Amino acid sequence: MKKNIAVLPGDGIGSEVTAEGVKVLKKIAQIFGHHFDFDYALIGHEAIRTTGNPLPDETMKLLVQSDAILFGAVGHPMYDNDPALKVRPEQGLLRMRKELGLYANIRPVKLFDELLHASSIKPEILKGSDIIFFRELTGDVYFGEKGRKDNNQTAYDTMIYSRHEVERIAHIAFRAAQTRRKKVTSVDKANVLESSRLWRETVQQVAAQYPDVQLEHLFVDAAAMKLIRSPRSFDVVLTGNLFGDILTDEASEIAGSMGMLASASIGDTIGLYEPIHGSAHDITGKGIANPLASVLSAALLLDISFGLKQEADAVIRAVEMTLKDGYRTVDIADSHTPKEKILNTHKMGDEVAVRLEKVAVEV
Ligand code: IPM
Ligand code: MN
Repeated sequence: MKKNIAVLPGDGIGSEVTAEGVKVLKKIAQIFGHHFDFDYALIGHEAIRTTGNPLPDETMKLLVQSDAILFGAVGHPMYDNDPALKVRPEQGLLRMRKELGLYANIRPVKLFDELLHASSIKPEILKGSDIIFFRELTGDVYFGEKGRKDNNQTAYDTMIYSRHEVERIAHIAFRAAQTRRKKVTSVDKANVLESSRLWRETVQQVAAQYPDVQLEHLFVDAAAMKLIRSPRSFDVVLTGNLFGDILTDEASEIAGSMGMLASASIGDTIGLYEPIHGSAHDITGKGIANPLASVLSAALLLDISFGLKQEADAVIRAVEMTLKDGYRTVDIADSHTPKEKILNTHKMGDEVAVRLEKVAVEV
């Protein structure tokens, strides 16, 4: 198979972890006889620095010609410390999602058995957790009308959803549930918010078309609590942009670390694959970031955009074997692992790549 992959490393640890995702994709191409071409482009703070634009035209031009996108992270502390700055790295990511019509953000939260003790949640509560989040990605308060008024004394962001926006993500979530444990938990704040009442009404209508799937509604505050109290009670979670953003950071603790969580953003056109974590400037340049979220994002890319299920499974198996052999980055280190070996970002990627050779024979 011949494919063009656009690589957007972005800011902070983005380039460090994305290098390992690319390493694994190259290894897959070599083992399975595919031809992947990688083209790099700028986004975020790096793009602002050199072009003044967080999503340069040249980057968009590359993206629309590509078959899939591997993305790292965007962000920089200088913007976090100066809210008055008008041009911001995150705008690059948000515009890319919107312009490419990537309305469905899929975030699988599956605990590798080997990481049972890496999480701050008790192992007996965690064991067997396997959740998949469907976060709506191009609507909500992220894209509603926003501004300042009253002589700059008041600011507002509008939480807004259309029926159409809710329907299309709901269908994707319900179809996924049919292939899993057949339960959808829709998360909203319908006891307070009008947009959530439309969300709930629409999800109920969509659910009627999937009688084999059980639908449960939770308010977001209760969902946040239940995720930690009984993560095994969740199968598919369907939620809006803001609630999904917050709950998936929380849920990453179920997978042991933020550094483990991959995501796929799909919709009308091309697929975008990225770790859920940010640019992490506190550890940038130290070489200690966990590359597995990028590696697992590469697996999602192979599976969803290219339909290469075997290759995707090989990547996941190789990650599992690497963990089983005791290799860890600092974020997933724990005192329970016998013969634990702490590796840097680069070496962790190497260990996964080495194991791909062995795994490829089995799958
Ligand atoms: C994410 C990130 C982004 C979001 C930021 C960087 C704009 O936190 O992908 O979860 O809020 O969607
Ligand atoms: Mn986030």
